[in-house]
Amino acid sequence: MSTMPNSTEGSTKKLTLKALRDKKGREKITAITAYDALFARIFDGEVDVILIGDSLNMSFGGHKDTTSLSLEHIIYHTQAVCRKAKSSFLIADMPFGTYSTRDSALKNATKLIKATQVDALKLELTSKKLHIVEALIDEGIAVMPHIGLMPQYIKAEGGYKIKGRDERESKELLESALAFEQAGAFGLLLEGIIAPCATAITQKLQIPTIGIGSGAGCDGQILVWSDMLGLFDDLNPKFVRTYLQGASIIKQAVRDYASDVRSQSFPNEQESY
Ligand code: KIV
Repeated sequence: MSTMPNSTEGSTKKLTLKALRDKKGREKITAITAYDALFARIFDGEVDVILIGDSLNMSFGGHKDTTSLSLEHIIYHTQAVCRKAKSSFLIADMPFGTYSTRDSALKNATKLIKATQVDALKLELTSKKLHIVEALIDEGIAVMPHIGLMPQYIKAEGGYKIKGRDERESKELLESALAFEQAGAFGLLLEGIIAPCATAITQKLQIPTIGIGSGAGCDGQILVWSDMLGLFDDLNPKFVRTYLQGASIIKQAVRDYASDVRSQSFPNEQESY
């Protein structure tokens, strides 16, 4: 785990879109997800980007995938994060089915931005949906396409599949990335792409890439907060580094509390009025 300070560590100054883009080639972009005000307050300023990711449907909502998340859900969680995160650059996910057409994308994206004042939106798509990215950018919305392994496509793809393993797939990913850059995307999220392919994409683009499970060649890295804090003791994907054994630490604290109540050592006199 690195202890090297960077320019954002503990920052209270709001990170702008330009400052985020300017990190490319200079320093790695740091990013984490958050779904609520409590954790947003803790993470704010410690990382460049906080993503209100639709992964909240799984880790927070207990669903088996992200597809049932509604626009109202993401608005609720984004509002909570925006209330307490004032320094990091904030990106919200557009939920599955809320940007199927140009018109629905424009309607739902403007609703999400108006309700939350989040800085930018992330959408899982291929360049077949380039017109949607163009329409949002034309409307003045900062857009980060998410390519590679796209969890919202789980039903069509029958599982989570690492991408870029063959030449055709690598070429398609690179072409999509270049098309999104040309359309005005401010950055790209690369998920589950083999490292050489993600590195090649990153090197060909002027805009930054943020990777998850896509190797060290990306301009930045993101992890889902509950994964990196070890809140799932039954799940440990290869690409996650666990920085805290959160589940066992919290479980022990709750056990200690319950035991103190049972033994009547809590509350004591100092904890009473
Ligand atoms: O929803 C999410 O948390 C994401 C991550 C995989 C980056 O999109």
